[in-house]
Amino acid sequence: TLDGGTRTFRLAPQAGTHEFVPGKPAQTMGYNGAYLGPTLRAARGERVRVAVENRLTEATTVHFHGMVLPAAADGGPHAMINPGASTNPEWTIDQPAATLWYHPHPHGSTEKQVGYGLAGLFILDEPGTNEAAALPHTYGVDDIPLIVQDRRLDADGKITFDPAGNSLGTLGNSIAANGTLGAVLSVTTQRVRLRILNASNGRWFKFGLADHRPFHMVASDGGLLAAPLELTSVQLSPAERAEIVVELKPGESVMLRSFAPDLGRVNPPDAFGGGKEFDVVRLDAAASLAPSAALPAAFAALPAPEGTTTAVSRSFTFNGRSINNKTMDMNRIDFTAAPGEAEVWFVDNVSAYQHNVHVHGVQFRLVDIDGKQPPPERAGWKDTIPLLPREQNRIAFRMPKYADSEHPYMYHCHLLTHEDEGMMGQFLVA
Ligand code: C2O
Ligand code: CU
Ligand code: CU
Repeated sequence: TLDGGTRTFRLAPQAGTHEFVPGKPAQTMGYNGAYLGPTLRAARGERVRVAVENRLTEATTVHFHGMVLPAAADGGPHAMINPGASTNPEWTIDQPAATLWYHPHPHGSTEKQVGYGLAGLFILDEPGTNEAAALPHTYGVDDIPLIVQDRRLDADGKITFDPAGNSLGTLGNSIAANGTLGAVLSVTTQRVRLRILNASNGRWFKFGLADHRPFHMVASDGGLLAAPLELTSVQLSPAERAEIVVELKPGESVMLRSFAPDLGRVNPPDAFGGGKEFDVVRLDAAASLAPSAALPAAFAALPAPEGTTTAVSRSFTFNGRSINNKTMDMNRIDFTAAPGEAEVWFVDNVSAYQHNVHVHGVQFRLVDIDGKQPPPERAGWKDTIPLLPREQNRIAFRMPKYADSEHPYMYHCHLLTHEDEGMMGQFLVA
């Protein structure tokens, strides 16, 4: 609703039941419903307010992943909302069109709350740009939200977590697309845009079409790429997004799959979720398809990454469950940065298995991986990047412009078990 120029959304986290397997109800959590949450949508320049009312029997937070916003509205682990309590974070959208998301961030129970279903998309638009019109943009018709999660279901169809806690945390045995196993999408247009979010706990996916036909990736975490990028697969670690445009012929059916992901130096290659393939959603094209506009050759120029030579430089070593040999302490601020300052971070994974890294409040650019140019699908705006074993990634960005000496932003591994176990740090921008 629009109220005095502020677009207001309502989110009520609550418990529910959802049938992943017909006839076998599972305990779940959702926003305003039993599983997942509504897609929120706002445009650049708009003032937004999210009225959250916690109807769970436990405390939670609502974090806006990928959003460039004041730390007080970010919804990190300090922003706990007790059962029955409410909160109303408010900010002005000040970043390009993108597919962002929201999810809980209570320190120590994020895996459980996201795992039971608390997650939703937050789509940002940039009105008046040619791109907005050139890409498929009718929500639910040719512009489809696709939240992909592996869930570990037991024989009764109930959500479970890995008690043994392997190095990656819970890996699931079933793939849910928007909460549905064995999902089917009826396509009525020649081109369909899928806004894919990997909302898994620790699972890497490598999305592609079963017949290996090419598709075009148009956007990464924080917005459009420089140009549509032709690919046959795109790999996403937990929390990463990719918007892809798939072309279909009338009457055909093609499966969106996850092929075996490339986990770098993971050994053996089928450890930690490697080697596994899954069907995600079958795309069924109608007998006649409405024509779609051709994709533009390029999008409005993606700015070059910030220069790194004059930037403030920091190093982060990810190992086991720690960053720079420290685990999360809610009362420790790891560093303070200046508002709007250029930063370059060296993020090094010295573990034998994969991590990833996410930074709150910013969109960054991947400068290089082990000194080499990043792959084109990771060359645009990012807020989360994979950290494969023994790889060093360098990222560049500007700190948020919002000064606040009280509320910190987080940086952490987005494998939720690792995050819960303390693979996280916090910084102030002041
Ligand atoms: Cu997606 Cu700190 O979060
Ligand atoms: Cu985040
Ligand atoms: Cu990790």
